[in-house]
Amino acid sequence: MRDSMISPKKFAKTTKSPPKGFKTSNDFFNFVFKDKKMIWMGQNTNHLLQDSLITDAMVECVNSGEYCKYPPPEGFPELHELILNDLGLENDFEMMITAGGTESLYLCINEIMKADMNMVTCDPGYLIIDNFASRFANQVISVPIYNAECNYKLTPHLVKEYMDENTKLISLIDPLNPLGSSYTKQEIKELAEIAIENDIYLLHDITYRDFAQDHHLVAKYAPEHSLTIYSFSKIFGMAGLRIGGIIANPHLLNSIRKVLINDLGTNVLSQKAAIAALKSKRQWIDSIKTQTRNNQHIIKKAVDQVDGAFLPVYPSDGNMMAIDLKETGIDPQIMADYLLERKIFIRQGAYTSKLFGDRYIRLSFSVPQYQVKIFAEKFLEAYEALKL
Ligand SMILES: Cc1ncc(COP(=O)(O)O)c(C=O)c1O
Repeated sequence: MRDSMISPKKFAKTTKSPPKGFKTSNDFFNFVFKDKKMIWMGQNTNHLLQDSLITDAMVECVNSGEYCKYPPPEGFPELHELILNDLGLENDFEMMITAGGTESLYLCINEIMKADMNMVTCDPGYLIIDNFASRFANQVISVPIYNAECNYKLTPHLVKEYMDENTKLISLIDPLNPLGSSYTKQEIKELAEIAIENDIYLLHDITYRDFAQDHHLVAKYAPEHSLTIYSFSKIFGMAGLRIGGIIANPHLLNSIRKVLINDLGTNVLSQKAAIAALKSKRQWIDSIKTQTRNNQHIIKKAVDQVDGAFLPVYPSDGNMMAIDLKETGIDPQIMADYLLERKIFIRQGAYTSKLFGDRYIRLSFSVPQYQVKIFAEKFLEAYEALKL
């Protein structure tokens, strides 16, 4: 028999090991999803937004029966316009709608990376990006950033230190999942300069942008060398609707069109919801930001009561944060399991780090305040029960 066409190396990267007690990863997610009492702090989703305009838009679309038609393949122009307007990138940029930031990341990496090139990412970070990069690039350079010296982020200094002549793409998650660190205007400008000088691209993943106190777009400083990844999963509270997009200059976007998969477009209901969400954003954004900030304080207070635990980044500019447990001697996986048994879903560090996964847990706090209080209480209880 002929050997499989899929090299073992690539195949290994596509398989995920299931959480303990579950046959597959899918079974695990199905279990947590179906448990209506589960407090959802494990996926950085937003459960605070209750805007009837968004649901009304979807209901209207359902009632009209319009969903039996395919939408325009790259999304409704009205939605493009609203997103570009939201970012202040009306001029010189184009965009395409995809089924989420994930698809957008994949398409960009697929198109930019060639077999002799490498991509710079960071650890901790959003490991799906590393996974995608490993499918197309010669090498993924994952820069360790879990230290106060670099402020827990991939700084311009680190980028210069780690990149080489084969680097073509730099992943910049801003604010950073899982830590919540973000970039100053000066840092964004410096990163833009690095991209221009070396004729490489910055993959600017701004999935958590709207939770930040202050945010700056690489696209403004390096329009020809940036790909901006947009998502409706977080601030807009629409994770299950699977919608996002890519913003780039027309030339770059044209080249990404070559690798497009979803040629028949993205879910019509999701696009209608996205249009309504952007139109109403100004009415609710401040409230969501205030609530998430307040929720962070509750968690900080609890963490401060635990000997050896600390928040690497506080306040977080995202809707998630990491709690370092290393000095407490508690294994993050054991902590996650303990909380899951008490119906609180958070993630162990290994989900977002290959190097530092044994140090921290990650949790999101865009959930109702009473749920954050339950977390704080159970976290303290867990510490007493699990400490060595
Ligand atoms: C940095 C980052 N990018 C993209 C995504 C996925 O976005 P989407 O739900 O739009 O696919 C996530 C999800 O957690 C994320 O953390």
